[in-house]
Amino acid sequence: MFLKILLVILSYLIGSIPSALIVGKLWKGIDVRNYGSGNLGATNVLRVLGWGPAVIVAVMDVGKGILAVYLAQSFLHSDYLFVLLCVIAAVIGHSFPIFAGFRGGRSVGVSFGILFYLFPKSSLIIFFIAIIIVAVTQYKSVASITSALIYPFLLYHIEKPPMEYFIGVILVCLFIIYRHIPNIKRLIKGEEHKISWKVRR
Ligand code: G3P
Repeated sequence: MFLKILLVILSYLIGSIPSALIVGKLWKGIDVRNYGSGNLGATNVLRVLGWGPAVIVAVMDVGKGILAVYLAQSFLHSDYLFVLLCVIAAVIGHSFPIFAGFRGGRSVGVSFGILFYLFPKSSLIIFFIAIIIVAVTQYKSVASITSALIYPFLLYHIEKPPMEYFIGVILVCLFIIYRHIPNIKRLIKGEEHKISWKVRR
């Protein structure tokens, strides 16, 4: 039991690594939360610092998810309940990071890493769907919200996951939608930030 609880705490700490904050500080000495959407994620880094740092943050965030679920599965094997708790801890860590004053991101990158590791087929499909939505709407938030809505259905039909994992995926998707409430409000008001090639600070 001690090891299981330790792994849940470790997953939270991995999720808490504030990639966007670290890259923002190293790249330009700024806290990206003071710019753009105020979000600690690759999309806001793209807006504030450009493609290079955004790709680094995206890789780090997806990597955090992969690392957390890899460690959980390596030690817990088919103890689905505790693997699920580790996954949820990593996702919450990204949104409410202990290393960054509990003000983090929307948990899309870290969740993608976790889901890609567990369910590569469905995750690659949703990745391409998200790219198409971004290309058409130019809103990353619309792509994230739509993907979170569609993903459980896609997963259920394509990969038939164990029930514990399926419930976990639904919880993660609901959490992502909850984290996008500020974006939804901006979308309704017509004030949401579009993806842009130009750096805006
Ligand atoms: O992945 C996060 C994205 O969906 C929204 O980011 O910075 O526009 O709030 P942002």
